[in-house]
Amino acid sequence: MSILIKNGRIITAVDDYQADIFIENETITVIGKNLSMVADKEIDAAGKLVLPGGVDPHVHLDMPFMGTYSSDDYETGTRAALHGGTTSVIEFILQTQGDTLHNALKTWQDKSLHKAVGDFSYHMAVTDFNDDVAKEVVQMIEEEGITSFKTFMAYKGALMIDDGQMVQLMKIVKKHGGLVTVHATNGDMIDSLISKNLSEGNTKPLYHYLSQPEVTEAEASARFADMLHYTGCPGYIVHMTCEGALNAVRKATHRNQKVFVETCSQYLMLDASKYDQEDGAKWVMSPPLREKKDQEALWAGINQGLIQVVGTDHCPFTWEQKQMGKDDFSKIPNGHPAIEHRVEFMYSEGVRKGKISLNKFVEICSTNAAKIFGMYPKKGTIAVGTDADIVIFDPHKTHTISSKTHHMNCDYSAYEGWEVTGKTEAVLLRGKIAIENEECKLKPGDGKFIPRGKSSLII
Ligand code: URP
Ligand code: ZN
Ligand code: ZN
Repeated sequence: MSILIKNGRIITAVDDYQADIFIENETITVIGKNLSMVADKEIDAAGKLVLPGGVDPHVHLDMPFMGTYSSDDYETGTRAALHGGTTSVIEFILQTQGDTLHNALKTWQDKSLHKAVGDFSYHMAVTDFNDDVAKEVVQMIEEEGITSFKTFMAYKGALMIDDGQMVQLMKIVKKHGGLVTVHATNGDMIDSLISKNLSEGNTKPLYHYLSQPEVTEAEASARFADMLHYTGCPGYIVHMTCEGALNAVRKATHRNQKVFVETCSQYLMLDASKYDQEDGAKWVMSPPLREKKDQEALWAGINQGLIQVVGTDHCPFTWEQKQMGKDDFSKIPNGHPAIEHRVEFMYSEGVRKGKISLNKFVEICSTNAAKIFGMYPKKGTIAVGTDADIVIFDPHKTHTISSKTHHMNCDYSAYEGWEVTGKTEAVLLRGKIAIENEECKLKPGDGKFIPRGKSSLII
């Protein structure tokens, strides 16, 4: 199968030029002006942006969490991602405390291998570290293509590890060329604030926000950066929300230390006023939405190169699932639906509103995640020899976000009525048409596991 994309404006993290792209089977084989090959299919991309497929390194699909499961599975979640221009996702395997990493891997393979519509990889969440797990960490890197290890400094009793375990994990991961990622909030402080609020009868979603003040994230981010510095291990802070945490990383960079940072589209677009609404449970996520001044700090952090990646932390729960916490905010399953619109949001809110350049847009939505997590250049750019994961993007088309039209398995949208300029028009996944005329042409099992190597941004 061959495809010729004609007349598009190709944007990568560093380039912006007009050319044609010739694809044979899964790979881009020629890029040039006025290509005249005869292809099985020709796509006219005149007036359109031609982007590398989006890479979202922070999604939760079919994840057991807070007594239920996130409502998108590998099929519905990766399909929704494709509709919005994200061709690869990295999801989280959760080790059960007291059990092995290999057992968790098997469970996640069963959920994903025959169901994924788009490409995927896994981070391994280490929730219980000991000598046996240390051996498995090495096997994950060397045998399974899983090179990033997620840790939680919160969710005590379910996912959290202590600082001693963290440091031991960092030492072994550093030795074998991997990366430690973290949910950086101070779990003990948060748990005590939750208990205090509940004991005073404060049960509404607003108290989810008030139980996780900025300091809980700033403190844990600084502590994580210090532990990285002590062990020499490279690290990545997921879903950063606030100025205080960003300043902790800024300080760490003064030691010439590498700490990668991800924020998520919601923290750039929404603020904590959502928790005053009757339906505030829709935005109960951890860390919570913050203030306008934090949004400004995060956009600036992107341009300063302190934040490299914008993910989604997609972790949807239906409105019925959210009712688990109707009388107690601490029982509302944490997370919101977001996997579908990240690329369009970053174009509309970032590029169109003059906050970021087109190249930066590609960097934060695709290239940097591919580089940090060892998938580059197969994923994350448009060049001869790379996977033909390509988004044809209409930069002028306007549309309105709604649960009536989205493809995520969630009965509400956290962005209902949001006006967006810029739309994913067509998507190719490894040289196959994935999205055309708003329809998904791929089926469960067409998405492939991406074994990952070492990060190309770690020296
Ligand atoms: O609220 C969130 N973020 N839910 C998913 C789990 C996590 O902490 O990333
Ligand atoms: Zn988290
Ligand atoms: Zn998450």
